[in-house]
Amino acid sequence: MMKGSVAPVRMVRLTFTMNTPATMQAAQLSRFGAPDVLEIVELPMPSLGPGEVTVRIRAAGINFFETLVRRNRYAVTPHLPIVPGVEVAGVVEAVGEGVDPDLIGKRVAVPLFAVGRPAGGYAEYISVRASDVVVIPDGLPFEQAVALLVQGLTAALLVRQSAPQAKTVAVTAAAGGVGSLLIQVAKKANTKQVIALAGDPNKLEVAKSLGADFAFNYQSHSWIDQVKDATDGKGADIIYDTVGGPITGACLNALAPLGELVFAALNRCQLTARALETMFNQNQSIKGFALLPLLDAVTLRDELSRLFNLAQAGCLKVLIGGRYPLEQVAEAHRALEKRLTTGKVVLIP
Ligand SMILES: NC(=O)c1ccc[n+]([C@@H]2O[C@H](COP(=O)([O-])OP(=O)(O)OC[C@H]3O[C@@H](n4cnc5c(N)ncnc54)[C@H](OP(=O)(O)O)[C@@H]3O)[C@@H](O)[C@H]2O)c1
Repeated sequence: MMKGSVAPVRMVRLTFTMNTPATMQAAQLSRFGAPDVLEIVELPMPSLGPGEVTVRIRAAGINFFETLVRRNRYAVTPHLPIVPGVEVAGVVEAVGEGVDPDLIGKRVAVPLFAVGRPAGGYAEYISVRASDVVVIPDGLPFEQAVALLVQGLTAALLVRQSAPQAKTVAVTAAAGGVGSLLIQVAKKANTKQVIALAGDPNKLEVAKSLGADFAFNYQSHSWIDQVKDATDGKGADIIYDTVGGPITGACLNALAPLGELVFAALNRCQLTARALETMFNQNQSIKGFALLPLLDAVTLRDELSRLFNLAQAGCLKVLIGGRYPLEQVAEAHRALEKRLTTGKVVLIP
């Protein structure tokens, strides 16, 4: 090229697509409040940049913390409007420049929360970096794959962060999305026994069907005595508290001397200084648990691969307690808030 001449700019954008429409439906939050603030809107199809793929979403996970976000009662306040949803599974429909076209048609899961994109899941389509998708093994349904993202990883890492081998552990909200998996992961970790704590008789049955050795209703007055009876008067060695609020203080009364309370109910700790003093006098400890800071890229891939394989092999039962079409997203949130659900709640856009 001669000095001073300008090279012609060639914009080459290669995308490989299946047939995609111009707009899509999504559930959007434009203000905080009751479930009905979730509105179904028509949005432009997400754009597709170099290195990205567009995924046709077949299952989007709903998590309890999203009901808190919706009411602006979570640790973080999002900018509105926002399409909530931090985890999806679906089929790759288009790939952008630089992405292997063989990805088209692949069944993938996308842990949006773990790759810096904690929104956009309650929709028909999403575009993400190709490097952020995880291929789902054959035979594992989309809804099960999505259940293993936030909730599966939480269960797996709760157990990994504690040392439950040969110990009695107790699990709160035991029939819920996290709890139903946590019971099973804890059993696989060679615990002595797993005690499920849940809020109604049907949930206790669900927990027992998943392998819990005991299941007690923590809405009743007698549940702490029942835990003591099941543990020769000692109490549980480890209690995983994902619920928080008043339950945490009650859990301390069911904790053995030298026991550990693993607290995972972010932003919902109501422990008093007095309760902490009582703990210290019994050599008990409290450990915080937050999923996100534990997920580096390697841990994320390794743990997901382990969870997917266990579920695919039938060694981990993934309970899908509610399937809702996108337009019934408010109904899904309402059911979660009213404690009516067991297992994973999914949107099927
Ligand atoms: N720290 C972290 O990184 C992390 C990560 C993921 C999830 N979590 C927490 O884990 C918990 C479980 O999450 P999930 O998505 O799997 O939900 P979920 O357990 O499927 O549903 C929530 C359950 O919590 C129980 N609950 C207790 N008090 C409640 C109340 N006041 N309102 C509504 N439900 C109440 C209910 O079960 P019962 O009727 O049996 O009490 C309810 O069914 C949530 O609190 C979530 O914030 C924490």
